Amino acid sequence: MHSRWLLLSSIVVVLANGCAAAEEKTASSVAPQALKAKTDYCKTCHGLDGQGFRGSFPMPRLAGQQPEYLANQLQAFIDRRRTNPVMFNVAHVLDPAMVKSLAAYFQNLNPKPLGGASKALVPEGKKIYEEGLPSANVPPCASCHGPDAKGADAFPRLAGQLHDYVFRKLSDWDKERGQRKDQPDNSAIMQPIAHNLTEAQIKAVSAYVSQLE
Ligand code: HEC
Ligand code: HEC
Repeated sequence: MHSRWLLLSSIVVVLANGCAAAEEKTASSVAPQALKAKTDYCKTCHGLDGQGFRGSFPMPRLAGQQPEYLANQLQAFIDRRRTNPVMFNVAHVLDPAMVKSLAAYFQNLNPKPLGGASKALVPEGKKIYEEGLPSANVPPCASCHGPDAKGADAFPRLAGQLHDYVFRKLSDWDKERGQRKDQPDNSAIMQPIAHNLTEAQIKAVSAYVSQLE
């Protein structure tokens, strides 16, 4: 069973490296003032230090996020593979050099998690995260997102992510991610996993990852 996830992982890495190589050629440096103006703008929604923000709905934490995943998501918003009108408008004006600089900037921020989830759910969430749910065909989250939930390359960091954001993403996967059948992407890897979790299990695993530093 494990080798299947490893195989999937290497496919994602190969796909992601292909993109990175193409980006390398076009990227040039970004002026510090231009980068600051952009990051200040991102923080108006994504919170001080990119720690996430809980308004009328949860704005995801960007701090500590894997640069490759962050860049992939910006492209997914542009291609409308991932549907979000706000982030389409934000992302489609960014050039490759700016994307690279933004990704590096947010990766290096490390504020404390916002918290707010029920502590009582953490033990059950930890078990799901580490062992998966074999009877529901859910592999351990740790096998892809890492034992400490910090992610790697195209696998996102989940540690410290807002629990209500994680809950929404896993509940709405089919409606928001992989929306272009002609352009399959990494979101297909998560689709069956999100689908096979019950609401209570999603709540528990969201609570667990949200309090990890
Ligand atoms: C006007 C508010 C707003 C601004 C400004 C904004 N964002 Fe977002 N962003 C959002 C919302 C809302 C979401 C969540 C979309 C969803 O629920 O799928 C999001 C999601 C994202 C995601 C996906 C996160 C994940 O974990 O998958 C990335 C990456 C992102 N934004 C980067 C940026 C960057 C970089 C900037 C600045 C250039 C920025 N955003 C500016 C509102 C904003
Ligand atoms: C086989 C590998 C794999 C496993 C196992 C896995 N994931 Fe994922 N997950 C991914 C990949 C790849 C992505 C990024 C998808 C994309 O780029 O659209 C992702 C994305 C996510 C996201 C979206 C993050 C964001 O910021 O929007 C969440 C939440 C998530 N996974 C939670 C989980 C949980 C909880 C489990 C365990 C129940 C799990 N994953 C198991 C590979 C995996």
